Amino acid sequence: MKRILVTGAAGQIGTELTSSLVARYRAGEILATDIRHPADWARDCPAEQLDCLDLDALRATVKRFGATAIHHLAAILSATAEADPVRAYRINMNGLVNVLQVAAERRCRVFVPSSIAAFGPGTPRDPAPQSTVQRPTTMYGVTKVAGELLCDYYHGRFGVDARGLRFPGLISYAAPPGGGTTDYAVEMFHASLCEGRYTCFLRADTRMDMMYMPDAIRAVIELMEASPTALTHRNAFNITAMQFTPAELAAEIRAHVPGFRIDYDPDPLRQSIADSWPSRLDDSEAREQWGWRHEYGLPDMAADMFRGLHAQPALTAAASAGR
Ligand code: SER
Repeated sequence: MKRILVTGAAGQIGTELTSSLVARYRAGEILATDIRHPADWARDCPAEQLDCLDLDALRATVKRFGATAIHHLAAILSATAEADPVRAYRINMNGLVNVLQVAAERRCRVFVPSSIAAFGPGTPRDPAPQSTVQRPTTMYGVTKVAGELLCDYYHGRFGVDARGLRFPGLISYAAPPGGGTTDYAVEMFHASLCEGRYTCFLRADTRMDMMYMPDAIRAVIELMEASPTALTHRNAFNITAMQFTPAELAAEIRAHVPGFRIDYDPDPLRQSIADSWPSRLDDSEAREQWGWRHEYGLPDMAADMFRGLHAQPALTAAASAGR
């Protein structure tokens, strides 16, 4: 029987992954954990407060729950990491090595998200191949490359079935992203409804790789259910769905919110991070090895985002007050 422990369950990916795992398996087979107390984010499955930097607590929780897999989502994203790189290194690396160590002891499988940020200015931009130069210039990217290597190391040395995906920017309405460079896309949707206008922290022509959250969640589940014999890469597979610029997203949003206005005031830090990443990942290995296919392109994603946002009473109230 599967028993999956999720770390970072209150975050942007964790919120939706936990719900999808509960829907696919059973609530009793999932344990949602986060550094935040569950009173602030209670889910439709058992939930606990857990700090992945506390190795003893992590070990005890995994043992008590009888976890057979750990989906390790707790991490600091790109822009936040640059505000305090040492803290980001500590959380992203020490949290991961703790998870892998406990997984080796308890014979758990592991899922760890990597990112488009594992690439840097020396990587071919369009597309970035599966196997290529990985010399990122951000602390977040450094921890993602090191994390990929660490997962492969624990697989080779201790037989831990660790698997990962290099996610592009993720767009969702259920929970806000936490300090990434691609967050502008989610912010633009919210601002279009609440203010009718948005000032973007990236240049109008910054083309980035993006994915709608339902595709990302399905990718996690499909990768973890794939036969191990089919996988030659493991950590981590490139996956992609769509590429657009802030100007192109604004045009799509305008089709739903007539009169939506966008201005640009590029933030030098986040612009330089975006400029250092590829604008598209080549995901042919994921397609061949475990049958990855995305479902959402830009128009479908935007339509579903507005459907989801309109169904949120707090946002609808803010929208009526603000416009
Ligand atoms: N969305 C992430 C970020 O912008 C990239 O993985 O930091």
